Amino acid sequence: MTRILRAYPDELEIQSVREGIALAGQILKEGGLVAFPTETVYGLGANALDADACRRIYAAKGRPSDNPLIVHIADIADLERAAVRIPASARMLAEKFWPGPLTMILHRNADIPDATTGSLPTVAVRFPSHPTAMAMIRAGGGLIAAPSANRSGRPSPTKAAHCIEDLDGRVDMIIDGGEVGIGLESSIIDLTEDVPVLLRPGYVTVPMLRAVLGDVEVDQAILGSDARPKAPGMKYRHYAPRGQMVMVEGDEHAVAAYINERAGAFSAAGKKTAVLCAAQSAGWYDREHLRVYCLGSREDPEQIAANLFGTLRQCDTDGMEEIFTESFSVGDLSGAIMNRLEKACGHRKIRIPEDGIIDDTGRSERNEDSIGE
Ligand code: TXA
Ligand code: MG
Repeated sequence: MTRILRAYPDELEIQSVREGIALAGQILKEGGLVAFPTETVYGLGANALDADACRRIYAAKGRPSDNPLIVHIADIADLERAAVRIPASARMLAEKFWPGPLTMILHRNADIPDATTGSLPTVAVRFPSHPTAMAMIRAGGGLIAAPSANRSGRPSPTKAAHCIEDLDGRVDMIIDGGEVGIGLESSIIDLTEDVPVLLRPGYVTVPMLRAVLGDVEVDQAILGSDARPKAPGMKYRHYAPRGQMVMVEGDEHAVAAYINERAGAFSAAGKKTAVLCAAQSAGWYDREHLRVYCLGSREDPEQIAANLFGTLRQCDTDGMEEIFTESFSVGDLSGAIMNRLEKACGHRKIRIPEDGIIDDTGRSERNEDSIGE
């Protein structure tokens, strides 16, 4: 049976909530699984020092076990319990971005079992800023391994209802801390190489990292090359809705015209068709043949990021079979938003050129399996 505990950040002082968090800590110490809110997405936690507990995470998610977990801390002193030979660069980043949406890859402390790190010599560490997460991590002993709390392959959860949808009956407790603030997973930076390498784009952007570290490289796999990604989880096709999804790029009016035309054909064939769009273009779509999902204003990329995963899940709930999305190269968060959207599309892209002749071959699924994070 899965217990549901409501523990919004402003409720943590309430006696019954404190008792609930203490119970979550006890469940974690006894090897159980607790889903919990963070400022990025919900995580599925287990004691990072307990190999059996971490194996249970893989089983509950249906996640491949070569895909390592992030160790979450809630006290900077615990960094040394997770990692060794911690470079000055990590201290500088921690000072600037922790607690917050940044994960660092460091040399692993031998106390962290293989089951947590997928047998890698390195370990991913993050200090989340969500008050409920911090309270639970401390109650659970300080080192909590957690991937995102979705069934493998589904979009990451941004509210407790998503965790319940995916994990009810498969975990011991789900803590409802309300909707998350950011909605995209943390940025991941590898500090074990000579030059730091960004492995996953997130809310902490490359310019922000360069301002602290100077030189920062970006893993080629993020930029769309066929290179094998350095973060094992980045190779999987994930975030994907069940329907076929494709991104359409080009002049915005031409994009809308193309999608309307295709939607007409799909709807004639009896297929439920959707478009993910910005508020600016939401009025241009043919609502007779298309369900319109507005992610938010192009002037508010944070809103677009926060709505993205929930909207992908809504497409599944609504049974959408053909899904078009506009391109969202919007401000500092574009790298992170486009990375998730391109994965959701399995890298299928249609570019509407200025001469109007369409090349819709796109790129087929690049080294991606049907299962994911
Ligand atoms: O925002 C987040 O990071 C959320 C919340 C819950 O903290 N967590 C999350 O975890 O997104 P997950 O498991 O869905 O993604 C972790 C990523 C995977 O791509 C994994 O391969 C990579 O981190 N990773 C973990 N340990 C690594 C390591 N030692 N070296 C390289 N990549 C690693
Ligand atoms: Mg994940």
